Amino acid sequence: MASTKYLKLGMLGAFALLLFAWVVITFTTPSMRSSATELPDPAPEVDSQIDDKFVGSETCKACHEDQFKAVEQTKHGKLGELAAWKNKVVGCESCHGPGKDHVDGGGDKTKIKNFKEMDPKAASETCLSCHAGKENHNNFRRGDHWRNNIGCTDCHSAHGPSFGPQRAGSTTFIGDAAAQRPNMANRAMLKNSEPQLCIGCHTETKAQFSKPFHHKVLEGTMSCSDCHNPHGGFDQKQTRLAVGADQSCIKCHSNKQGPFVFEHAVLKIEGCSACHSPHGSQNPKMLKRSSIRQLCIECHTSIQNVELITSDNPGGPHAQNSLRSQNCTICHVAIHGSNSSKVFFR
Ligand code: HEC
Ligand code: HEC
Ligand code: HEC
Ligand code: HEC
Ligand code: HEC
Ligand code: HEC
Ligand code: HEC
Ligand code: HEC
Ligand code: HEC
Ligand code: HEC
Repeated sequence: MASTKYLKLGMLGAFALLLFAWVVITFTTPSMRSSATELPDPAPEVDSQIDDKFVGSETCKACHEDQFKAVEQTKHGKLGELAAWKNKVVGCESCHGPGKDHVDGGGDKTKIKNFKEMDPKAASETCLSCHAGKENHNNFRRGDHWRNNIGCTDCHSAHGPSFGPQRAGSTTFIGDAAAQRPNMANRAMLKNSEPQLCIGCHTETKAQFSKPFHHKVLEGTMSCSDCHNPHGGFDQKQTRLAVGADQSCIKCHSNKQGPFVFEHAVLKIEGCSACHSPHGSQNPKMLKRSSIRQLCIECHTSIQNVELITSDNPGGPHAQNSLRSQNCTICHVAIHGSNSSKVFFR
């Protein structure tokens, strides 16, 4: 009898402990919890109060005032104000590592993490130690930029713009301002505004966006990163995370998404770029081929043999001699999918 009583007491105690732990976790760390989805984790597991290898940014300022002033303007420079980062390493040393030996050595270059002498992958690892936790960046090592040795600081200025809070007036514009003044970008510490940033390396895309029918990227109404994730991803050509191959397009063209009762299978299998050149094209509607008929027949090879006779068209809708039958989407109107016609008539 007595032993079960103790057992019950023990269980009660254990339960109370669990409850206590839950209360502590839930109610004492509200700021950490609410920021967990937005902020990268405080990665360096060092307590700056305890580890005496860290000297603090104020010490660096004495000799590197320019860098200090630039960093101060950025989100990195303000981490110390955030509750989740209390007692964590912030400031210069969160990237450059502990600075004591460097300072004691009177600025000994070999005793501090010097990114200029590291290869882009190694330098990026430092950034990823904090940023890999975020969905937007955690695929960086799967992307083509990583594979081709393009690192974070090819696109971002680690210290932020050195000219302080002065920023370009618009997010994306082809106007001369950004091109002539590198380091002019108004967000995300980019070294240059989009699309100039991307076109600087991807020169061939500028010509594609200059074709008669194109998405208005050079005009500044949308940007490369609307469709691509420069930080990599699972999808071909680093297009934005997808359900099916089309996610980056249906964000804006949601009526093409379906689900439809009758899907045009090709949309689900190959995606939009089976028929469209997403950057730009000589052809209306950014189609890959100048004639719709040719576009369709490349896949529907047998169509030339089908000569369906209708009263509307005695020669058959697919008769090759009829001009009308050349224009497939006159009849197959709902070419992206339909809820009522298995051959996409409406
Ligand atoms: C977000 C990470 C990060 C933080 C925070 C940071 N740095 Fe840097 N620092 C870098 C990187 C990366 C480079 C290399 C620059 C490049 O490749 O463009 C660099 C370069 C430098 C250089 C070399 C000269 C130069 O300007 O390129 C000095 C000096 C320097 N940092 C000092 C500092 C000081 C002082 C602080 C704090 C006020 C600081 N850094 C904060 C990442 C950082
Ligand atoms: C007592 C002055 C002094 C202090 C304090 C100091 N540094 Fe330096 N630092 C120097 C000198 C001098 C150099 C060497 C410059 C050179 O040779 O071009 C240097 C070089 C560097 C470099 C390499 C720059 C390059 O161009 O290769 C980095 C990065 C750097 N310091 C970061 C820091 C950080 C981070 C702190 C704070 C933890 C810090 N320094 C504190 C004097 C100082
Ligand atoms: C010590 C952890 C840590 C390191 C290391 C770090 N970051 Fe950050 N970074 C943060 C935090 C936290 C934020 C703020 C996130 C937010 O506000 O959404 C941030 C913000 C940013 C932003 C957004 C700035 C803006 O104005 O929106 C960029 C870009 C960035 N970091 C790039 C880098 C790069 C490049 C490196 C490496 C050179 C780096 N970070 C290293 C923690 C870190
Ligand atoms: C090819 C150019 C490029 C490279 C390389 C790159 N970025 Fe970015 N980054 C961008 C662009 C463009 C944006 C703004 C558009 C966006 O949000 O995707 C951005 C936005 C950001 C932001 C702020 C928005 C957000 O998602 O929180 C952070 C933080 C960031 N990058 C961190 C990094 C880190 C860390 C690396 C290296 C691991 C890196 N970037 C490499 C181009 C690049
Ligand atoms: C510093 C140069 C550089 C910058 C800046 C740059 N890229 Fe890249 N990018 C490359 C290289 C190199 C490759 C790999 C080789 C290739 O496919 O061209 C690549 C690959 C890509 C790919 C994959 C291509 C494929 O065939 O799979 C895409 C998409 C891409 N970049 C988009 C962007 C976007 C969007 C931006 C601007 C936010 C950007 N890049 C900025 C150098 C750069
Ligand atoms: C409307 C969406 C969209 C925009 C905006 C966009 N892209 Fe693309 N991009 C794509 C798609 C989709 C593909 C894949 C095409 C394919 O598979 O045939 C692609 C392919 C690429 C490739 C791989 C090479 C190739 O031709 O297959 C690169 C590099 C690239 N884009 C860079 C850029 C750059 C740089 C910008 C901005 C100047 C940009 N893209 C803007 C959707 C877009
Ligand atoms: C950020 C929003 C956005 C995204 C993402 C986007 N588009 Fe567009 N698209 C537009 C806008 C806006 C227009 C029409 C206006 C213009 O720019 O001329 C357009 C026009 C088009 C047109 C031509 C329509 C016409 O009547 O001539 C086609 C085809 C097209 N987009 C296909 C795509 C494909 C395929 C993708 C994905 C690779 C895509 N779009 C991604 C915004 C977007
Ligand atoms: C099987 C080929 C094919 C595929 C795949 C395809 N399209 Fe189209 N799309 C066309 C044709 C053909 C037209 C022109 C129709 C016309 O002019 O009658 C068109 C027209 C458009 C237009 C402009 C006219 C309108 O209806 O708004 C947009 C926008 C568009 N497509 C977006 C997309 C998007 C987004 C995807 C991917 C989800 C996609 N297309 C996939 C063939 C295709
Ligand atoms: C990239 C290849 C491709 C292109 C281009 C293409 N289709 Fe299709 N289409 C398909 C596939 C795959 C199916 C599904 C066939 C099946 O299930 O047997 C299909 C189905 C159809 C169907 C439904 C009837 C059936 O056989 O299931 C019609 C109608 C059709 N396509 C018309 C067109 C027209 C009109 C065009 C030109 C605007 C076009 N397609 C362009 C691949 C394509
Ligand atoms: C005058 C109207 C009309 C035109 C123009 C037309 N079709 Fe059709 N299409 C039809 C009719 C009617 C059917 C049969 C519908 C049914 O079986 O219910 C059909 C059926 C089809 C089918 C499914 C049956 C099969 O044989 O696989 C495909 C694929 C197709 N058409 C492709 C095309 C292509 C490609 C073009 C352009 C070269 C085109 N159509 C032009 C009226 C048209």
